[in-house]
Amino acid sequence: MSPAAASPVLAVRDADKRFGAVHALKGVSLEAFRGEVLALLGDNGAGKSTLVKCISGVHGLDGGEVLLDGERTALHSPAAARRAGIETVYQDLALFDNLTPAQNFYCGREIAGPRWLPRGLRFLNARAMDREAAAVIERLKVSLPRFDAPVALMSGGQRQAIAVARATVFARKVVILDEPTAALGLRESRKVLDLIAQLKAEGNAVILITHNMEHVVELADRAVVLRQGRKVGELRPSRDNQRQLVSMIVGAEV
Ligand SMILES: Nc1ncnc2c1ncn2[C@@H]1O[C@H](COP(=O)(O)OP(=O)(O)O)[C@@H](O)[C@H]1O
Ligand SMILES: [Mg+2]
Repeated sequence: MSPAAASPVLAVRDADKRFGAVHALKGVSLEAFRGEVLALLGDNGAGKSTLVKCISGVHGLDGGEVLLDGERTALHSPAAARRAGIETVYQDLALFDNLTPAQNFYCGREIAGPRWLPRGLRFLNARAMDREAAAVIERLKVSLPRFDAPVALMSGGQRQAIAVARATVFARKVVILDEPTAALGLRESRKVLDLIAQLKAEGNAVILITHNMEHVVELADRAVVLRQGRKVGELRPSRDNQRQLVSMIVGAEV
C-alpha cells in the first residue's frame, strides 16, 4: 500500500457527545480513506447523525478529536468544515426554503461576487450559477417543477436531489451523505448511487449512512456499526456477512 493510501484523510478519535441526559456518542473512533466508501450503520438513535454533525461543524464535541490529513482540526461551524474540504448532506437537509436551488447551492460560499461588483456582473454571475446548478441536477435526472422556484415548493425527493447535487459539485476531500436516498424513488436512488461511485472514483472519502443493506453491499468498502452511541463493529460488507451486519446493528442474533 502506498503511504497516501495508508493514512486516513479523516480520523475521529474517542468522540464523545452529550445532549443533557442523553449520551449520544460514547468514545467513537473511525477512519476514512481517500477513494473508499465507508458505510456508517446503526439503528435509529444509534448516534450516526450526531457523529456526522460533530464532524461537519454543526455540534462541538464534548471529548475526543477530529483529524483531517493527520492534523487536529477545530471545525467550529459548517462553513469551516466546508472550507476544510468536508461536504455534508444532512439527514434533515438544511436547505433554505425561501431560496431557489441555485441560491441554495452557493449560499455562504461567497462566490457570487462581492457587493461592490457592478450590478451587471453580479447578474451574469447569477446566471452562471443557475446554469451550473441546473447542469448538475440534470445529471441526477430529477425533474424540478421550476428551477427558479423556492425549494419550499419542492418534494422531499427533489430537495434531497438538490442537496446531493450540491455536495457533489463542491466535493474535494470528504463527502458525508446522511440517508441520501431515504426520500427517493428507485430511479433517483440509482442516480445517487452512481454519483457516490463517481465521488469515490474521484478520490474522495465518502461516508454513507443508509438503512439499505443492498446499497451497503454494492457500494461500501468498509462498514462501521454504531449502537447506542458506541462503535460495536467494523467489517467489509459482502453478500456473505450481510446477516452478521444486521445482527450487529440491532444487537441480537438474527
Ligand atoms: N440536538 C439534539 N438534542 C437532544 N438530543 C439529541 C439531539 N440530536 C440527537 N439527539 C439524541 O441523540 C441520540 C442519537 O441521535 P442521532 O444521532 O440522530 O441518531 P441516528 O442518526 O443514528 O438515528 C438520540 O437519542 C437522539 O434523540
Ligand atoms: Mg440520523
